[in-house]
Amino acid sequence: MAQEPDDRVICVIGAGYVGLVTAAGLAELGREVRVVEIDPERRAAVSAGLTPIYEPGLDVMLEAVVASGRLRAVEAMDEGVTGAGIVIVAVGTPPTRDGEADLTQVREAVDEAVRHAAPGTVIAIKSTVPPGTTRALQRGSSRDDLAFVMFPEFLREGSALEDLRRPSRVVVGGEDAAAVSRVAALLGGPDTTRLLCDSVSAELIKYGSNAFLATKISFINEMAQLCELTGADIEEVSDGMGLDPRIGRSFLSAGLGWGGSCFPKDVRALETSAGYHGQSFWLLKAAIEVNTQQRRRFTAKLVHGLGGSLEGRRVAILGLAFKPFTDDMRQAPAVEVVRQLEDLGAEIVATDPVAIDRARPLLPRTSLVADPYEALTGADAVGIVTDWPEYRDLDWGRALGLMKGRLVVDGRNYLDGEVIAGHGGIYLSMGRRPRGPGAPLPGAAAEAGSRAVPSVPLG
Ligand code: UDX
Repeated sequence: MAQEPDDRVICVIGAGYVGLVTAAGLAELGREVRVVEIDPERRAAVSAGLTPIYEPGLDVMLEAVVASGRLRAVEAMDEGVTGAGIVIVAVGTPPTRDGEADLTQVREAVDEAVRHAAPGTVIAIKSTVPPGTTRALQRGSSRDDLAFVMFPEFLREGSALEDLRRPSRVVVGGEDAAAVSRVAALLGGPDTTRLLCDSVSAELIKYGSNAFLATKISFINEMAQLCELTGADIEEVSDGMGLDPRIGRSFLSAGLGWGGSCFPKDVRALETSAGYHGQSFWLLKAAIEVNTQQRRRFTAKLVHGLGGSLEGRRVAILGLAFKPFTDDMRQAPAVEVVRQLEDLGAEIVATDPVAIDRARPLLPRTSLVADPYEALTGADAVGIVTDWPEYRDLDWGRALGLMKGRLVVDGRNYLDGEVIAGHGGIYLSMGRRPRGPGAPLPGAAAEAGSRAVPSVPLG
């Protein structure tokens, strides 16, 4: 008699940003978890209780659950799956050339798991997959004694443990109600909102959530552009709009736009998937284009602020990771911006508190230094690309004293423009009013009917 699947034993396939955090979190909740990982270095790190990724708090959590024996990293799928009541598939779905989600890793993981899964095991897809995928995987498995459900993740890098321990909601979609309930019981507490639905709706809840947040950001970035043209200030506009509880202030911060391993991939995959179903999802096409434009708008401010050319100029870039409190460089705006600046002739010196090692192979022409003051030394201008708290806390009097020029372009609207101006710097941003000697007074564009940018080269 095959061993009855036991939901106290969970298998997670993939020790990436999502799989490892989920595996550690389930182990912390008392489940016996095996995480199947093909990368030997990543597997060895986890087995030693060391986190292979930078995620605040994960090092402490991982060390504890590995030491307690509740979490094990394994190589062989049968070792991971045998005896597990639920198998969570958390492998990557990177974009193909035309933006579609590449399901190769998901299909390989499912095919191998299905070979070893006992009857009654639930296969929970946590990877972000296009609508209809879960059902297609169920049909393709030719195992009617296994149930497939969609179990989307809503973890933000940098605050993933918080999102895992106190999920805003648990969504599980599937056609087998018992299987859906078993998976829904894995996370959250008695007061967690659980939404149980069909698998296609669950797939679209995931894509729709990320795509809407990305669209919200692109909307406020367009408003930021209009603020620059009219002399308004985007911080005040965002604050005012955000006071409406139907809008909300979160994800309403203008800047360089969205990057990371999720938004760019998910927005494009949803737009492509809609196209395959005969729909032109125009809002997403626009959101993607605005996001691309934000990088160019930032670069243009540096070019214009330095008199129209970057040839022979040195520009310091503060921040490389796609957002603070992570070392993730996937689709980071910094990569596009630095490449644009270098293509325009600038010499770039960039820094980041934790992402330099991951950035190095992506930016072979760029000088990467650990100390922001070293990056700023002799720079004609500085661009803020990631809103790391230490860049707001810099001694900007010292920083501007080290620079050759005085132009500060804040891609994340993160610094205090008055502080920069107080030390003789020129502060430009993405929709906030310029500050500093030579910068036009707030509202100047409204009177002059022209763009609110300094009228004289600043370098
Ligand atoms: C996102 C979703 O938030 C999460 O629910 C999902 O599970 C995975 O994708 P993440 O990619 O880690 O999480 O980052 P997030 O904090 O959402 O930020 C995404 C991007 O939007 C970042 O590049 C960030 O800089 C940018 N952003 C965020 C803005 O430009 N403005 C904002 O107001 C907020």
